[in-house]
Amino acid sequence: MAFISSSILDIAEILKQSDIAAIPTETVYGLAGNAYDQVVLKKIFELKQRPFFNPLIVHIKSATDLDLVAAHIPPQAQLLANTFWPGPLTLVLKKQTHILDLVTAGKDTVAVRVPNHPVALELLQQLDFPLAAPSANPFSSISPTKATHVANYFEHTPLPILEGGECSNGIESTIIGFENDVAVLYRMGSIPIEAIEKVIGPLKIKTQCEATPAAPGMLSKHYAPKTTTIQSDTILESIHANTTKRIGLLSFKNRFEHESIVAQKVLSAKGDLAEAAACLYDALHELDQLQLDIIIAERFPEQHLGRTINDRLARATKK
Ligand code: TXA
Ligand code: MG
Repeated sequence: MAFISSSILDIAEILKQSDIAAIPTETVYGLAGNAYDQVVLKKIFELKQRPFFNPLIVHIKSATDLDLVAAHIPPQAQLLANTFWPGPLTLVLKKQTHILDLVTAGKDTVAVRVPNHPVALELLQQLDFPLAAPSANPFSSISPTKATHVANYFEHTPLPILEGGECSNGIESTIIGFENDVAVLYRMGSIPIEAIEKVIGPLKIKTQCEATPAAPGMLSKHYAPKTTTIQSDTILESIHANTTKRIGLLSFKNRFEHESIVAQKVLSAKGDLAEAAACLYDALHELDQLQLDIIIAERFPEQHLGRTINDRLARATKK
């Protein structure tokens, strides 16, 4: 049985004993363990049923620890770290030689970030190693934004889960890498592209990639509910095309009326993209439990966090 604990010290002890635990961050819950311990890393991959070609993110307690894991920090990377850390920005940088192949999937780069969550930061303060942590969901399913989401996924595993409340951002970190010191966006995330470009100028975008993805958050099917899900620009038309079905509706700010709608989630009645992003996964988790025939998700405005939300919904709706 997975169990939820509020004791940072207890979880720190567990992690020091070469075990793994789920921990809160401001984006989503992570499945964390000592990034320097091969046995621990194997446990993470095994529990998550994650393919070894998919590397992990290393969580450090402060930007001053960055050179413990990264061997080369391009000027733009330093600028982004200074601007957004602690926060939902992951930098992919040339790795230090001691960073294990299991963390990086054999690449010569490592993904690293400083989480902006008081519980995660206090936990990292208790440890003399960084934490490798993928999102705490089985491979390709919806990321968890509450301790109970993690507990539901791993109900038959003796996994400790550190309580940290609801994740305030609710969508994974934005991932930026550097190719010949030029910034490249690998995964849209909690920090909108526009905010990054304000700091370092135009970004090269490489988020669509199939065969050997630079960041498998890019795999075209990911973040997926079990229920058939479609994305729609014209909600009423989509409802009318599915009237014989039990419909779950996921909309941005408007509520819709139709007898086939069994459940409806309005992500932000006041039309706030950050609020919508924060509730997105919880709404998908809830709708996915209702034995619906179809989830119809409204397409968001293609700007700021709307782009990230559309990106996740597009991957969630992929067959
Ligand atoms: O917000 C987040 O980033 C959360 C929290 C827990 O920090 N973590 C998260 O981890 O979303 P995960 O494992 O679900 O996604 C990590 C992504 C994957 O798409 C992986 O391919 C990419 O980071 N990644 C890791 N190392 C990489 C590398 N060296 N080069 C390119 N992409 C990398
Ligand atoms: Mg993930």
